[in-house]
Amino acid sequence: MCRSASPPCSREREDSTVLRTIVRRFGRAAEVVETEEYVPPAPTAGQVRVGMLLASVNPSDLVPIAGAYASRTSLPMVPGFEGVGVVEQVGAGVVGLAPGRRVLPLGSAGAWQQVKTTDAAWCVPVPDWLTDEQAACAYINPLTAHRMVQAHVPPGEGTTVVVDAAASAIGLMLVRMLNQAGNRVVALVRHPRGREQLASVVPELEQEAVLCTADAGWRTRLRERTGPRGHDVVLDAVGGSLGAELAALLAPQGTLVHYGLLSGEPLPADLRTRRPDVNLILFRLRDWVHAVDREQLGLAMHGAFRLVADGVAATAVAAVHDLPDVRRALEADAARGRAGKILLSLR
Ligand SMILES: NC(=O)c1ccc[n+]([C@@H]2O[C@H](COP(=O)([O-])OP(=O)(O)OC[C@H]3O[C@@H](n4cnc5c(N)ncnc54)[C@H](OP(=O)(O)O)[C@@H]3O)[C@@H](O)[C@H]2O)c1
Repeated sequence: MCRSASPPCSREREDSTVLRTIVRRFGRAAEVVETEEYVPPAPTAGQVRVGMLLASVNPSDLVPIAGAYASRTSLPMVPGFEGVGVVEQVGAGVVGLAPGRRVLPLGSAGAWQQVKTTDAAWCVPVPDWLTDEQAACAYINPLTAHRMVQAHVPPGEGTTVVVDAAASAIGLMLVRMLNQAGNRVVALVRHPRGREQLASVVPELEQEAVLCTADAGWRTRLRERTGPRGHDVVLDAVGGSLGAELAALLAPQGTLVHYGLLSGEPLPADLRTRRPDVNLILFRLRDWVHAVDREQLGLAMHGAFRLVADGVAATAVAAVHDLPDVRRALEADAARGRAGKILLSLR
């Protein structure tokens, strides 16, 4: 699994080839992602060269590979929006980052390679109290969950919140955060194994708070739990017919935060017409991260690191694969019912 951090000396790397993943055509990730050797560029002014240690595989990595944003994705590309590495070399004018510093290089793809040369301003230092595995999963889901809850869910039992795909990595974080904030939570899973995952990861959650959409009668039980008024907030990572149904059941003036498309189906186009009273919010971490200044991002990341270390935003890791095995890693990621994230080891 995760090996101890001992970054290679920058001189060793100079002019030598390293390995990276590369996508030359759109398609299913496990079929189109390749590996190749290349000579990483030296950092120019304001840049750093980061020797990557570990990167995570997230749904958001697979979407551009599949060609969903083909018009704004130029090929070839190196995927990976989340990973941790160690600064190996700094370009002119870089202050506050020295070789040996562990960082998350954010703001662009390219985590699935052994060396990422990137803007120093986008590198967030990682505190020593996080392991490499924790750091490799400390950005996308923890920050998204934290931002969505802070912005859209008032704390306390007066707010009933439905979380769908509750056994996904971010679903588990949301359920823990909401439960801790005293909200009345309903966690929806799609198979009985999800129920078991929730019971082991969030044992403090009442059993009746977890509903499986494969069971007949889950809608009746949802009504029983939320009352005739309906729920106040939905945090929806599924979209399609489930997202639409949960929107229809919202209390008057309720809020639906739509942040994922796990069903592969969008929410119905006429949702706003069907429920004009409801607050429909499309949340994309990327938009928030690129809208705030670096200082705000650094502060928010510090909050996310704390939540990871406290366990509220912890991520289970199902397996760590070496970079040359990336296709096997991507097959493992696509398997139903996997028990945690797949990571790529980049040493
Ligand atoms: N908008 C943003 O900025 C943002 C940020 C972070 C995450 N997200 C989104 O949040 C979602 C979850 O991300 P993650 O990293 O937590 O994923 P993940 O845990 O790595 O994988 C998703 C899990 O959800 C389950 N799932 C798949 N299809 C489902 C469906 N139709 N209904 C219910 N569950 C389903 C699968 O588990 P089983 O096979 O066991 O059911 C799968 O393991 C993704 O859509 C992602 O894009 C969005």
